[in-house]
Amino acid sequence: MKVPPFPLHLLHLLPVAAALAFAGSEAAKVPAIYVFGDSTADVGNNNYLPGSNAKANFPHNGVDFPFSRPTGRFSNGYNGIDFLANHMGFRRSPPPFLSLTNKTNHQILRGLKGVNFASGGSGILDSTGSTITMTKQIQYFSTIRSNIVAQIASEPTYRLLSKSIFLISSGGNDIFAYFTKNSSPNATEKVRFIGALVSEYENHLKALYVLGARKFGIVDVPPIGCCPYPRSLNPTGGCLDILNEMSVGFNEAVKLLMHRLSSTLKGMKYSVGSSYAVVSGIIRNPAALGYKEIKTACCGAGKFNGESGCTPNATYCSERHRYLFWDLLHPTHATSKLAGVAIYYGSQRFASPINFRQLVVDVN
Ligand SMILES: *[C@@H]1O[C@H](CO)[C@@H](O)[C@H](O)[C@H]1NC(C)=O
Ligand SMILES: *[C@@H]1O[C@H](CO)[C@@H](O)[C@H](O)[C@H]1NC(C)=O
Ligand SMILES: *[C@@H]1O[C@H](CO)[C@@H](O)[C@H](O)[C@H]1NC(C)=O
Repeated sequence: MKVPPFPLHLLHLLPVAAALAFAGSEAAKVPAIYVFGDSTADVGNNNYLPGSNAKANFPHNGVDFPFSRPTGRFSNGYNGIDFLANHMGFRRSPPPFLSLTNKTNHQILRGLKGVNFASGGSGILDSTGSTITMTKQIQYFSTIRSNIVAQIASEPTYRLLSKSIFLISSGGNDIFAYFTKNSSPNATEKVRFIGALVSEYENHLKALYVLGARKFGIVDVPPIGCCPYPRSLNPTGGCLDILNEMSVGFNEAVKLLMHRLSSTLKGMKYSVGSSYAVVSGIIRNPAALGYKEIKTACCGAGKFNGESGCTPNATYCSERHRYLFWDLLHPTHATSKLAGVAIYYGSQRFASPINFRQLVVDVN
């Protein structure tokens, strides 16, 4: 697959991001952020699921998080949602829904700050992975919304929600789950599967719209065939092309869906951020972007460190900022930081039809 080189002018934006990362006192640019999706967005909901095998609340996860705390993020530090939230004027992602208590949710019940509902292992389809499905995540949001209405009444609630950002990062697990059942789908099967996936995505987006969501920040699916785990399955050690093809097909369909929805749902605004463009840009041009390792995960075991997860007995690398992948399926803090800059400030190649900054600042 041909990918144009990563635009190096983006590098000049990195100092901006570094400065923002410490601007904790800067005023939030939106009332709240509500986050939905999978392990690329989870900040600890799965810590509360006793039976889940999609957890990251143990070392060496979090080794570069403040106080080296393993929070449940699938990262050595922050994930992409943390950086996006940071660019919007927050310290990092809002807290996980399942961590909320009546003591900590004071601001949240005034429609401020927001909540993260994402759950590792989940997908767009209810049949994919986690018990906290996307349907369940939206139900959780609905209970939060009812509680906000009870606190501040429905008029102000809708006003705040219409200015808040709804971030969604999902789809990769659905593609993995399909691949597990059918590793060489023909063209018809691919089209049918992607059609079903995007149709379900549409239902979820409409449900959120009905609940008051207006500004959607969608993060697309990266070239998941190039993660260390799929590479470890490939005798050649190359990317599993079928997974990348399905990711591209899904991403194209999501763009069309969002365009169509925004012309039928009054007041709906959106940006689709492309983690696909970011990760494929890094793979294409690693050295120029400061990477020395784009195939092997920093933490794990087996081929490409892709045969088992980042557990306490796994080994992990020292130059973590020079690795594309943290574990068998997830990017490093450094990669997420680059993705955050590209999606928030970048050109249409990284976020379209507008970038996340425009969605936050320019659009009313
Ligand atoms: C929070 O308050 C509600 C009633 O307002 C109560 O039903 C619930 O059990 C409380 N939760 C906690 C964790 O105390
Ligand atoms: C694709 O595979 C299905 C079986 O899963 C088969 O019915 C169909 O004819 C195939 N289509 C093409 C174009 O090969
Ligand atoms: C780590 O230990 C667990 C059991 O405690 C084992 O199942 C797993 O395979 C080990 N992983 C590595 C990378 O050694």
